[in-house]
Amino acid sequence: MNSDWRPVNFWAMLFQMMFFAVGVLFQVILCLGGHENEDFPTATNGQVFPWNKMRLPDSIIPVHYNLYIHPNLTTSNFTGLAKIQVHVRQETSVIILHAKHLEISRATIALTEYGASHPESILNILEYPPFEQIALENAKPLYNGETYMVNIYYTANLSDGFYGFYKSSYQTPEGEKRILASTHFEPTSARMAFPCFDEPSFKANFSIKIKREKQHISLSNMPIVKSVPTAGGLFEDHFDVSVRMSTYLVAFIVCDFKSVSAVTSTGIKVSIYATPDKWNQTHYALEAAVKLLEFYENYFNINYPLPKQDLVAIPDFESGAMENWGLTTYRETSLLYHPGTSSASDKLWITMVIGHELAHQWFGNLVTMEWWNDIWLNEGFARYMEFVSVDATYPDFQVGDHFLGTCFAAMGRDAMNSSRPISTSAENPTQIKEMFDTVSYDKGACILHMLRNFLTDEVFQSGLVRYLRKFSYGNTKNEDLWDSMANTCTKEDFTSGDFCYSGSQAAKSAYRFAGEHLDIKEIMNTWTLQKGIPVIIVEHNGTSVRLQQERFLKGILPEDPSWASLQSGYLWHVPLTYITSNSKTIGKHLLKTKSDHIELDGEAQWVKFNVDMNGYYIVHYTRGGWDALINLLDQNHTLLSQKDRANLIHNAFQLVSAGKLSLDRALDLTRYLRHENKSIPVLQGLGYLEVFYRMAVRRNITDVATNLKNYILQFFKHLIDRQTWSDEGTLSDRLLRSNLLELVCDLDYLPCVQKALAYFNQWRMSNGTLNLPTDVLEIVYSVGAQSSDGWDYLLTKYMQSVSGAEKNKIVSALASTRNPEKLARLMELSLQGDIIKLQNLAHVVVAVSRNPYGHLLAWNFVKKNWSTLMEKFQLGSTTIRWLIIGTSSQFSSKEELEEVEMFFDSIKEQSSQLRCTQIAHENIQKNIRWLERNLDLLRSWLQNIIIERGT
Ligand code: BES
Ligand code: ZN
Repeated sequence: MNSDWRPVNFWAMLFQMMFFAVGVLFQVILCLGGHENEDFPTATNGQVFPWNKMRLPDSIIPVHYNLYIHPNLTTSNFTGLAKIQVHVRQETSVIILHAKHLEISRATIALTEYGASHPESILNILEYPPFEQIALENAKPLYNGETYMVNIYYTANLSDGFYGFYKSSYQTPEGEKRILASTHFEPTSARMAFPCFDEPSFKANFSIKIKREKQHISLSNMPIVKSVPTAGGLFEDHFDVSVRMSTYLVAFIVCDFKSVSAVTSTGIKVSIYATPDKWNQTHYALEAAVKLLEFYENYFNINYPLPKQDLVAIPDFESGAMENWGLTTYRETSLLYHPGTSSASDKLWITMVIGHELAHQWFGNLVTMEWWNDIWLNEGFARYMEFVSVDATYPDFQVGDHFLGTCFAAMGRDAMNSSRPISTSAENPTQIKEMFDTVSYDKGACILHMLRNFLTDEVFQSGLVRYLRKFSYGNTKNEDLWDSMANTCTKEDFTSGDFCYSGSQAAKSAYRFAGEHLDIKEIMNTWTLQKGIPVIIVEHNGTSVRLQQERFLKGILPEDPSWASLQSGYLWHVPLTYITSNSKTIGKHLLKTKSDHIELDGEAQWVKFNVDMNGYYIVHYTRGGWDALINLLDQNHTLLSQKDRANLIHNAFQLVSAGKLSLDRALDLTRYLRHENKSIPVLQGLGYLEVFYRMAVRRNITDVATNLKNYILQFFKHLIDRQTWSDEGTLSDRLLRSNLLELVCDLDYLPCVQKALAYFNQWRMSNGTLNLPTDVLEIVYSVGAQSSDGWDYLLTKYMQSVSGAEKNKIVSALASTRNPEKLARLMELSLQGDIIKLQNLAHVVVAVSRNPYGHLLAWNFVKKNWSTLMEKFQLGSTTIRWLIIGTSSQFSSKEELEEVEMFFDSIKEQSSQLRCTQIAHENIQKNIRWLERNLDLLRSWLQNIIIERGT
């Protein structure tokens, strides 16, 4: 041991102590002089606001909320009383909590001791709107360790938007307008309905009372224990006290809905609520919700802790659905299944959404992330559990095949330099809202899938159960999850270090390394704390495989000056899997370094990495690796699974964007699709061709557009002509039918257009009463919408329809017209919000923007109406992000990029706060480069094909 250590440490300690003492002194001065200190902001009344951080102090924590809410649906306002029991953890005389747009008239406080209350004193109320906070100042200090009751009396308007306690409405079939009020709090809007400690780790119990009129019902997280008639003919519903939960999960609704109910095998009452005229669309959701809830209770091996689960279809709802504990809320199209007009994909969507929100009852509600930086712990899990639960409850849907799509979406975003790590700091409400993105949801789900494949299903599941049990009613961060995953064995099972496989698990897991133990946290940190996605470069030669990893970047090429700096410091721990021409046994290798080497069991003609795309990485094959795979697909594509085939198509086109593979090779690979009949690879390959086609149309590159169109119609003829205009077949058959026919009708394929038009005319003759196959409805409407009177007819049908599924199809059809006046009218109607609800604005505008004849109109619409949009939607909300990304991502020229930049510059105050503007920017840059590099190649490849075909 070094004999010098003592004196060195001594001086260091002394120095530290001095530093500490000065620090304390400084803090004391700050506190004493706090009110004069200019670091503190000014409250609305001109006094000093005694807190200067966006996050609340933890000196006072809420224990129990008694909420009393009385909404008046006629005058659109509500009165509230929040009685909050708080516990003091550090002496202070101010309580800082959240409130937004609340008119607080009075606040009092009383000490509570052994249940008895002391006299009340009045609190001074200070407000600081920029932080959405209030400070309640007491004349005397509140003592550490004591519990107090704080009473806050307030009024507010029911919100006009989609957050807080907001107004919604619908029309009865007789044309009468009915009003209801509902809540949506996540992430930071509980503070718009009651003053509260609106951060996810301030969990408390809630007792809620709602006053309502006789013709209404009220719903909240818990069941009603009693309803008391009050003066004036009103009723007061008292809800049972809730479990310990975060404020963002509180919910209440006052409405006149009707419901259907059933009871699960464990005695939970499940009910679906909708407007009375939509009651007959609720039955599928009921069946699905019961099955899914039962599945989760089994899978998590933890009972759902509440006595009931209500699922409510709200007529005005901005996002897709919300997981309020015991009272999940949905957009009507996410819950209601209308047998006559809901297609296979609508049914799948409903099932997945319910699967998602019910997964949250455990992931998110029971165990919650500590802060919004880790929202992926909620959303990534819920997205992943959609697939796990629906696969188990509706095996016929074969949703596992569609999981690839989730990872493709994630990779699309993550291959941009403007991506972000899964865990990213987010402090203000706009940043927090923007965390609900494809990185949290889709990348989150994909890395969980990779981990599950790495650990085996059993280890993964027992890790989850352990995590959920250990942190029930509490909060977590990433590390807690990894720790739970790593310690799934009993003490006796431990072999070495921190990790073990119990006997049965060991047999199933091929990931065992002699003398090496796995540090799951170390592996997973490379996926959650670092942005981006790796590309694995495979050089195969006989039995030898050399491996290298790089950061995969779309649109930035190795010859670019920024390349090197964008690569530096990136390293992933990649659980690789592979199959070869020799063996179907899946080889496994954990790549932890920049380069590595594997020796195969025998010589192989080809190797395919990332088996079934269970891993989150892209693979590039050098030295003839791609040639071997292209040959294999062409000669015997069924040697690979359909997921592997789709994965190869995806990787090839991604590598083209990254400048690693030439477009010809990727296109050559798609030629095998003439033999393909599985929907996943067909739709993947077609998807790229369609994107190129639309780009060519928009840019008026007519020769390329025409040749591409002919190529698609020729190459997929075997599939196109096989499609029936019916609802028959498996889900996969049905999805293929809808997608394929939609594309070919859009390409003006005459047999398709004629058939659709005949259906449209028949339907119109029957005045909309004829039942058409649901999977082709949208196609029929779209063809019909190409004539002016067809379009007008569809708009009237839109107004009359009671099916959200049908309305969505009609909107898509209306947005496909080439008539600019009609497109403009459609967008205006949605902004007005009477005929087409405002909640559908993003769908309408983005659909118009996908139409090559509408994309400029859509962009100009967003520009022109920006300030109105800002009034109606919150910055960072899904609608705003969709509008920005959706209307700009088709641009592909320098002039258009300038135009977009100029607009973002003109709204700098908002655009600088948004991440999605960077995405838009990078998208356009990528398009420009893609065209510069690939247009000629695409042109000549298509010409060669034509010559080949001609000879
Ligand atoms: N927790 C979200 C709802 C939400 C979304 C709150 C955005 C705040 C901001 C909910 O669980 C959810 O993820 N909803 C999805 C639909 C779902 C099926 C993926 C949505 O609304 O997009
Ligand atoms: Zn969710």
